[in-house]
Amino acid sequence: MKVLVTGGAGFIGSSLCDKLIERGYDVINLDNFNNYYDPKIKWQNTQNVIHSPNYKLYVGDIRDPKILSQIFEVEKPEVVVHLAAMAGVRNSLKDPLDYVDVDVKGTVNLLEFSRKYGIEKFVFGSSSSVYGKNTKVPFKEDDPLEGQVSPYAASKRAGEIYCQTYSEMYNMKISCLRFFTVYGPRQRPEEAIHLFTKLISEGKPIPVFGDGTSKRDYTYIDDVVDGIIKAINTDYEFEIFNIGNSETITLENLIKLLESTIDKKAIIDRKPFQLGDVQITYADISKAKKILGYEPKTKIEEGVKKFWEWYKDR
Ligand SMILES: NC(=O)c1ccc[n+]([C@@H]2O[C@H](COP(=O)([O-])OP(=O)(O)OC[C@H]3O[C@@H](n4cnc5c(N)ncnc54)[C@H](O)[C@@H]3O)[C@@H](O)[C@H]2O)c1
Repeated sequence: MKVLVTGGAGFIGSSLCDKLIERGYDVINLDNFNNYYDPKIKWQNTQNVIHSPNYKLYVGDIRDPKILSQIFEVEKPEVVVHLAAMAGVRNSLKDPLDYVDVDVKGTVNLLEFSRKYGIEKFVFGSSSSVYGKNTKVPFKEDDPLEGQVSPYAASKRAGEIYCQTYSEMYNMKISCLRFFTVYGPRQRPEEAIHLFTKLISEGKPIPVFGDGTSKRDYTYIDDVVDGIIKAINTDYEFEIFNIGNSETITLENLIKLLESTIDKKAIIDRKPFQLGDVQITYADISKAKKILGYEPKTKIEEGVKKFWEWYKDR
């Protein structure tokens, strides 16, 4: 099976490409290596597979019809896993239009090409942030959404709506996967576990937003990749799935876990609760378990230990 992965040089995309190649898929990666974080890290992310005969890299933009024509015409992918995006919540408050441009327009551009070229399956990387103001936990896919609280979340919700519309109009098989705070080797450098690990190990203060009681459902990268591959291989018209761990940890306890893993005390730089942040994310994963056979295996204690091992050796 030939899979086009967009954003395949990023954290989740590159981990997915590695696993797909290992399992014998043909992989095309389209990534523009933008400078949201150091592009050198993204080049590094591709190194396990760059010389594989089953892997091809296109450096380009999902908004560019020329490169998409070339890829769909020449490579003839059967499946699209769309992960390319502007991904940070806080940054979306600074540059909201970038998020409309890449996360909404870019997604519609890919849906259009996927429709024209009769793609068998389209998998969209959505986010737990679409649950926004919801307070009833754990979050279920069919819970009414009570409003997104950042431009990033709004753009991801818009992407989901376009996916549903394309599936409805053109009978396309589409999955929207709502990822819950993904972590592990190659995690984006500005994300909490990565940033805190760096700062604690260097003896520098860590910025802690709010009183430390906010909770996150952290999901280990291998479990997320497994969920994506299961979605590629399961048949249905349109579905939304939570891809989470279904366990939460408070920010305070996450910091304690990092301190004991790194064996160093954190210096806390307390900051006010941030606009755009939510108090809790918590996934009900019963639907993904039932339909996809998704079964996350990595507890946060084990995942943080694996991240630290990777961080020291990278
Ligand atoms: N990491 C998480 O915790 C998390 C949680 C929920 C959802 N997601 C979603 O998963 C996907 C991957 O996230 P990630 O953490 O791996 O982010 P990432 O930034 O590491 O990866 C995204 C990749 O997309 C590429 N890209 C950005 N704009 C592009 C464009 N216009 N054309 C081509 N390539 C472009 C970037 O260069 C980058 O390599 C994103 O859609 C993100 O919104 C991530």
